Parts: sequence; structure tokens; C-alpha cells
Amino acid sequence: MNSLKGHVAFVTGGTSGIGEATARAFAKAGAKVAVAGRKEDIGSQIVKEINEAGGQAIFVELDVTESEKIKNAVKKTVKELGPIDILFNSAGIHDAYDTVLDADEESFSNLMNINVNGVFLVTKEILPIMLENGKGSIITVGSQGSFVAGPGGIAYVTSKHALVGFNKQLSYDFGDKGIRANLLAPGFIETPMTEGIEDERLKDIPAGRAGTAEEIAKVAVFLASDDASYLQGSEITADGGWNIGR
Ligand code: NAI
Repeated sequence: MNSLKGHVAFVTGGTSGIGEATARAFAKAGAKVAVAGRKEDIGSQIVKEINEAGGQAIFVELDVTESEKIKNAVKKTVKELGPIDILFNSAGIHDAYDTVLDADEESFSNLMNINVNGVFLVTKEILPIMLENGKGSIITVGSQGSFVAGPGGIAYVTSKHALVGFNKQLSYDFGDKGIRANLLAPGFIETPMTEGIEDERLKDIPAGRAGTAEEIAKVAVFLASDDASYLQGSEITADGGWNIGR
């Protein structure tokens, strides 16, 4: 229940979907949480609800493509909550299954900038804090599009494959310094990102349904906690079995 007591978590994409559910779950598990996002009104409401339920959270404004905002958000978190030792990289966008012909240079770069460069920039800002304290759990949200074609278009699948390499190299470089980096790869999850998406392959999910953000958040709590002490550089799939038949 209190598996994250004494920890400080920074959650990107914290105002919606998987990020929001994870911020709430981290707080419920006892962590102090920075809900990082672009939408202050929604973020403040989430923070209010977390605090009213007995948790401890703050909202920090964050656009993962803007270094200055990242620096300020991290600084504010450390000042108000303490040194960050959990990072949940959830901010991301989808490309509506655009093929290489549909995507143009701008849309491709924009998606890569958010889904890949954003993870790089936020991690780069927070990792030194973790290293200073000799501990940290960095969870990066991948996708089934991290492993196979189909769950997105050309930009999305490229970006999510890139995060597999990012996670591995991060773990390889810093695993012996107290840092655990793991990729959490959800299947088809009901969030604003998937609203209105009809994917005929969903009928092949052995679980027989889409997942919920709360189900992904529970895996995130485990990965963030000391219970996952021997998981480093792993790719954890939570997809109701979607991929096993592919
Ligand atoms: P969502 O759309 O509810 O949440 C994405 C969040 O990222 C939003 O809060 C959005 O404002 C934020 N965001 C986008 N661009 C940003 C930027 N430049 N700076 C800061 N924040 C930004 O979608 P969902 O489903 O919660 O997605 C979260 C993560 O999970 C994403 O990385 C997504 O690719 C991944 N994912 C989602 C799946 C699904 O079926 N919903 C499946 C597999 C992976």
C-alpha cells in the first residue's frame, strides 16, 4: 500500500490518460508527486484531488520540447518536494497511423521531438539528481509500437522503437550507479489518445478488451518501487496479450 513512501516522483503527461492515472497511483502508494504538464487548470484540479485524498502533489508546468520549462519544473519540484528519485516519462502523441507518404517533414519531426527528444531532455535534467543520491527509477512509456509495426504510423512506431534503445543504453550506462531504467509498453488503452480509434485487431486481444490507464498505473507503481529492485533495462508489456498472436 505504501510501497513508494519516502519517494519523490516526476510524471510527464501527468494531466491526462496513463500519466494522470500513474500520478494518482504513485501518490496513493505514498510518493510525493509532481504532476507535470501543459494544462495548468486540469493539473491543478488533479493535484487538489490527490491532496484532498491525503496524498502530496504539486503541479509543474512542462512542455517536454522546451528545455527552459523542463529546468524550471524540475527545480520547483526539488525545492517543494525534495530530490526526485522516480521519473515517469509518459508525455507523447500519436500519428493517426500516417504512412511514410502521408507524413510530412514537419509532422514527423514534431512527433519525434515530443516522443523521443522530450524523453531525452527530461531524463537528462533529472538523472544528475538521482545520481547525486545514488538511486532512481526511470520508467519510460513505450508501446506495442516499440516492438512491432501496426500500433501506430511511421513516426509513432519509429519513435517508440527508439525508446527501446534509449532505455537499454540508459540502463547500461547507469545501472551500476543505482539507476533502474525500464520500458513500460502498454497495449491498447482507453485514454484520450485512443478515443475514436477503431482498430479491428482489437478483437484479437486475448483479454477480450482494451486496458485501462489504472491497470498500467499499477504496473508503474511496481516498477517504481523497491519490489522491482532487480529489473534493469527491461521491457514490460501490459497489453492483455495483444502481441502474442502476432
Ligand atoms: P494522452 O493523450 O491521454 O496523454 C498524453 C499526454 O502527453 C497528454 O497529457 C498531453 O498533453 C501530453 N503531451 C503531449 N505533448 C506534450 C508536450 N510537448 N509536452 C508535455 N506534454 C505533452 O494519451 P495516453 O494514452 O495517456 O499516452 C501516454 C503515453 O502512453 C504516450 O507516450 C503514449 O504513446 C503511450 N501509449 C498509449 C497507449 C494507448 O493505447 N493509450 C498505448 C501504448 C502507449
